[in-house]
Amino acid sequence: MKDITMKVKEILITEEQIRQKVKELGQKISEDYKDSDDFLMVCILKGGVVFMADLLRQITIPVKIEFMAVSSYGNSTSSSGIVRILKDLDTSIEGKDVLLVEDIVDTGLTLKYITEYLKGRRPRSLRICTMLDKPSRRKVDVEIHYKGFEIPDKFVIGYGLDYAGLYRNLPYIGVLE
Ligand code: XMP
Ligand code: MG
Repeated sequence: MKDITMKVKEILITEEQIRQKVKELGQKISEDYKDSDDFLMVCILKGGVVFMADLLRQITIPVKIEFMAVSSYGNSTSSSGIVRILKDLDTSIEGKDVLLVEDIVDTGLTLKYITEYLKGRRPRSLRICTMLDKPSRRKVDVEIHYKGFEIPDKFVIGYGLDYAGLYRNLPYIGVLE
């Protein structure tokens, strides 16, 4: 039988830690956006999908969702900074309060590109929520409004994060063997 946990050297963040953090973030976000007339959460595919699904169910105010898919060229474990939009938003974000939901901010290049790109469409506000942050690898400044955990410079898998497209289904965040 094939076992995906074999690639996990160490569990960095447990299911329980994730659950607790997602709940806290959901409460905070619900409070912060409670007066918004048009709150939109945008999941950055594919990595953000697991976090998005969990976070969304901790939101207690009216919210709509959208998906965006991007890809950065280069080798599989580091980001090149060249971002290609594979799937754009389906609706206009003009005048809306947009919250981007990401799996991880590493160099920051991906989110820098996406935020600049989306700002041109004149949302009322644009913020970032990321599950993980690897601050030691940052190349460009991005303002992160909501964050789950800061992690060291290790390549992580699970909870949406992949290696070569696999391991997104691990329920915790682990370090790749
Ligand atoms: P940047 O460098 O643009 O990169 O902030 C963000 C994207 O790079 C991927 N990434 C990772 N994916 N484990 C992963 O599975 C990691 O440790 C990791 N670090 C960066 C990820 O796709 C993220 O959206
Ligand atoms: Mg990603």
